[in-house]
Amino acid sequence: MTHQIALTFEDGVTRFIDASPGETVADAAYRQGINIPLDCRDGACGTCKCLAEAGRYDLGQDYIEDALSEEEAARGYVLTCQMRAASDCVVRVPASSDLCKTQQARFEAAISEVRQLSDSTIALSLKGESLARLAFLPGQYVNLKVPGSEQSRAYSFSSLQKGGEVSFLIRNVPGGLMSSFLTGLAKAGDQLTLAGPLGSFYLRDIRRPLLLLAGGTGLAPFTAMLEKIAEQGSEHPLHLIYGVTHDFDLVELDKLEAFAARIPNFTFSACVASPDSSYPQKGYVTEHIAPGHLNEGDVDIYLCGPPPMVEAVSRFIHEQGVQPANFYYEKFAASAA
Ligand code: FES
Repeated sequence: MTHQIALTFEDGVTRFIDASPGETVADAAYRQGINIPLDCRDGACGTCKCLAEAGRYDLGQDYIEDALSEEEAARGYVLTCQMRAASDCVVRVPASSDLCKTQQARFEAAISEVRQLSDSTIALSLKGESLARLAFLPGQYVNLKVPGSEQSRAYSFSSLQKGGEVSFLIRNVPGGLMSSFLTGLAKAGDQLTLAGPLGSFYLRDIRRPLLLLAGGTGLAPFTAMLEKIAEQGSEHPLHLIYGVTHDFDLVELDKLEAFAARIPNFTFSACVASPDSSYPQKGYVTEHIAPGHLNEGDVDIYLCGPPPMVEAVSRFIHEQGVQPANFYYEKFAASAA
């Protein structure tokens, strides 16, 4: 059985390769035209050392301690000239995609649906034959080229790829290039170009409780992650806190309810920061993080939101005297015209 290996590069580009049974990750990469760092191929030099962030694998027997120490192996480091996958894996390569003679993939797709969910938020779905080959890690993003311009905008996938279709949650920025296109001109069938996938904000193996913090359209990567978790299940509790500024920014609550019904360990709450809000839970996300959510530090925190939210949450965690096992975050800022 072949396994899919996601190679994530220093510049944020991710490429997916297939590894045949018994094939090393390095051999699989070269066979598919990706020249990851390699020298001796013998487990002696350590040139091919990478970090395996997810998946099960065999480290191999024929390498020396100088190339990979026991302590490094315990932290997830691998020698790709020795590593053989036993499941789908994510391998972080300490080099740029350019250096490895690869680049982000491009796809053409057509709009299958564009829908304004509220004054501030647009849902966009794209479909195309080539998208059936688009693989990405839930949480990652692509660059979408704005039709009629040479500019691109980065958007996280809000769904997994199913039958060549993917979705996005897009903030409606008044005067913004993509927003103007989507609210004024876009119609089903219009062609768009996607480049990616990109980004290091993606769901890792779930080894402890997760606290997911979404700010505004920063909800998008979490709905993609939750789709994946709904498929694979989770033994650990997962809690999402979704914070927005105004009542009209609060979207996709029905989708979150559906995830809560499908995923036994998943709970969520939402809050609105504006004092004018009529929503029952008010305030910022940090006001809704309970000590139990931090689990005395045995928690992986994922946060996607605007820069001030990332800073506020980092400060809050520090003030609580908690050191989370992992804190992954993605800062985003909306682009205007
Ligand atoms: Fe030398 Fe892998 S290439 S240890």
